[in-house]
Amino acid sequence: MDVLVRRLRPDDWTAFRDIRLTSLADAPQAFGSTLALEEGLPEAEWRRRLEPANGVTVIACRGGNAVGIMGGYALPDGGTAMLIGAWVRPDARGTGVSDALAGEVIAWAREHGFERIVLRVADGNDASRGLFLRQGFTPTGERTPLESDPAVGTELLVRALS
Ligand SMILES: CC(C)(COP(=O)(O)OP(=O)(O)OC[C@H]1O[C@@H](n2cnc3c(N)ncnc32)[C@H](O)[C@@H]1OP(=O)(O)O)[C@@H](O)C(=O)NCCC(=O)NCCS
Repeated sequence: MDVLVRRLRPDDWTAFRDIRLTSLADAPQAFGSTLALEEGLPEAEWRRRLEPANGVTVIACRGGNAVGIMGGYALPDGGTAMLIGAWVRPDARGTGVSDALAGEVIAWAREHGFERIVLRVADGNDASRGLFLRQGFTPTGERTPLESDPAVGTELLVRALS
């Protein structure tokens, strides 16, 4: 069955909250944030994150069900977009959902004139690394600790958009 991707708007905030909290519960080792930090966030904060001026959040649906999410926002340098929050429902992995999501976030970044798009991958997250290497990202060797667990390292990957 085809996967449909669409960019969320502030009025989609409950759908966004549901899948975001599900992703944080499912894969805590993959994200800089935590379920504990986000489960109590107010409606205004979920809506704020979905304002087009603050970036993009893309949801993937198959058969009417949300099966994945990915987002992007502008870094302060103005030329770089950061891809964040990538998650595919476990029973939908390996079926092209992540490629559809990444394609839409990259399309958003191109539309907004970014020169490059970057993301951070936690050490040992081979599924994510494999996905983004296939999507044309390359390792930079630039390393920072994962905020939610500083014992875990992350590496910055980059893809030029020009
Ligand atoms: C990372 C993630 C979004 C990739 O989604 P996906 O749909 O599995 O993506 P792909 O189909 O491109 O598969 C990616 C890799 O996982 C492997 N894979 C495929 N099906 C799989 C499955 N059912 N379970 C686990 N891994 C699987 C693929 O072989 C591929 O590895 P390779 O490119 O080295 O061959 C998904 O695994 C996920 O949500 N993980 C938890 C959250 C996370 O790690 N987010 C990334 C933060 S940077």
